[in-house]
Amino acid sequence: MRSLIVHPSGPLRGSATAPGDKSISHRALLLGALAEGDTTVRGWVHADVCLATLRCVRGLGVTVDEHSETELTVHGVGLNGLAEPADVLDCAGSGTTMRLLAGMMAGQSFTSVLTGSEALRRRPMGRIAEPLRLMGATVLGRQAGRLPPLTIRGGNLRGIDYAMPVASAQVKSAILLAGLFAEGETIVREPGPARDHTERMLRGYGVEVVVEQPAPAGRAAPGPAGKGSVVLMRGRQPLRGSGRGRELGPFTVPGDFSSAAFPLTAGAIVPGSDILLRGVGVNPTRTGLYDLLEQMAATVAIVHGEPQRQATPAWPVGDAGEPLANVVVRGSELRSVEVAGDLVVRAIDEFPIFAVAATQAVGVTTVREAAELRVKESDRIAAVTEELRKLGADVQERPDGMVIRGPTRLRGAVVESHGDHRLAMALAVAGLVARGETVVRNAQVINDSFPGFVETMRSLGADVEWRET
Ligand code: S3P
Repeated sequence: MRSLIVHPSGPLRGSATAPGDKSISHRALLLGALAEGDTTVRGWVHADVCLATLRCVRGLGVTVDEHSETELTVHGVGLNGLAEPADVLDCAGSGTTMRLLAGMMAGQSFTSVLTGSEALRRRPMGRIAEPLRLMGATVLGRQAGRLPPLTIRGGNLRGIDYAMPVASAQVKSAILLAGLFAEGETIVREPGPARDHTERMLRGYGVEVVVEQPAPAGRAAPGPAGKGSVVLMRGRQPLRGSGRGRELGPFTVPGDFSSAAFPLTAGAIVPGSDILLRGVGVNPTRTGLYDLLEQMAATVAIVHGEPQRQATPAWPVGDAGEPLANVVVRGSELRSVEVAGDLVVRAIDEFPIFAVAATQAVGVTTVREAAELRVKESDRIAAVTEELRKLGADVQERPDGMVIRGPTRLRGAVVESHGDHRLAMALAVAGLVARGETVVRNAQVINDSFPGFVETMRSLGADVEWRET
C-alpha cells in the first residue's frame, strides 16, 4: 500500500501540463479499433484504467503498437473485424471501459464476458443493458442483468430512439457504439449536457453524426425541448480518415481538464499562488468546475493562447475535435455557491475537489441533484463527507448532495482514498491548506487517471510525497 504524505505548502507557482484526457484516451483505442486503417495517438494517458481498455482491445484481436508510454498506433480492423475473445474481458476498475465496450460487444455475433474489480462489479450496468437489449442484444448479468460480470451476445441490432433517464456520456456512448452496427438510425436524447467526446471523434473518422442542440431558454423552436441535445446517427457507417490514404491522425489527446482540476483548485485555495496549466481540454461539457470557481470569485482565466494543433487532411478536426486552452489561476478569497442542474453534469467528476474548495469558501455551499455521485468510483457523497470531516471540515451529507460551511481551517489527519483516485487527489490538495501532516492512505489508486500527480504538484511547490506503508 502507498500513502501520500502532505504538509502545508507556501504559494504554488509556475506552470504545468495535465496528462492526456482519460475519456478521450479510452475512445481513441475503441474507435481506433473499429476504424479502417491505422490511427496514431499522441499524448495518450498511461493510466491504469486506460491500460485496461488497451488489454481488452488486444483481447479482441486488435494490434496496438506502443511507441512510448504516451504514443501508440492502433491498427484498426474495421466494423466487421473484431475476433471473439479467448477469455473474459477484464475492465479492472474502469466504468468507461465496461460501458463503452458493452456497446461495441452488443454489435458482435460472438459472445463476450465483461468483468472488473470488486468495486466495478458493484456499479450499475442496467442503464446500458436496457437500451442494448432494446436494440436486440442479449445482455446477462448478476441481479437480473444489472451488475457485472456481463455476458453479451449481440448481432442483428436495430437502431432505437432512446431518451436517457440519466445524463451519462457512458450510456450515450454505449448506445452510439452499438448503433454503428445497427440497421437504421439510432437516436439518443439527453436530459442534460453529457460529455460529447464520442460524437466529436466519430466525426473525425468521417461518420455523420447529427447533434440537435436544445433550444435556448425561453425560445421555442428550433431544437429539442429540454436541456440536453439529441444525437442522431445512421448505422453501418465505416470509420475512415476523411482525406487521402488510410492513415488516420495522428491526433493528440488534449490535457485532461479533470486532472488539471487538482492543481487548478490548489492554486485557488493556497494563498499567494499563481499558476498556469498548459494545453488543457476545455470542451464545455467538461468545464463546470471552472465556472464554479469563477462563481466563487476565484481569479481564474481561460487563455486561448494555446494554438490548436494543426488539423490535417486525414484528420480535419485536429486534437480529436476538442478545444484546447491554457488556464491560469491565482490564490483567491472564495465565497460559497449553490450547485444543481446542468452544472452537476458538467462538473460530474470534480465534486471531491470542489468540496475541498467549498471548505475554504465563506458561506454555505450546497450541492443538489447530484445523486449520480453515489455510483462513481466510490459513493462520493458519503466518502467525501466522511473524509473531509476527519480533516475538521463542516460537511453534511444529503441524499442527492451535500452542504458545506466555510471557511474552515483544516487540520491534518489520516484519511482514506476509498479506492477512488479523485478522492485521494482531492484529500492531498486539502492537506496543502491543513495544519500539520495529512496522510492519504491507499493513494496508489491515483494512477487510475493521473500517474504524474505527485511530480506535477511538487513542481509547483507543493509538499507532497509517497510513502510505502
Ligand atoms: C465518462 C463519463 C462520466 C464520467 C467518467 C468518464 C466518459 O460518467 O464520470 O469518469 O468517459 O464517458 P457518466 O457518463 O456515467 O456520467
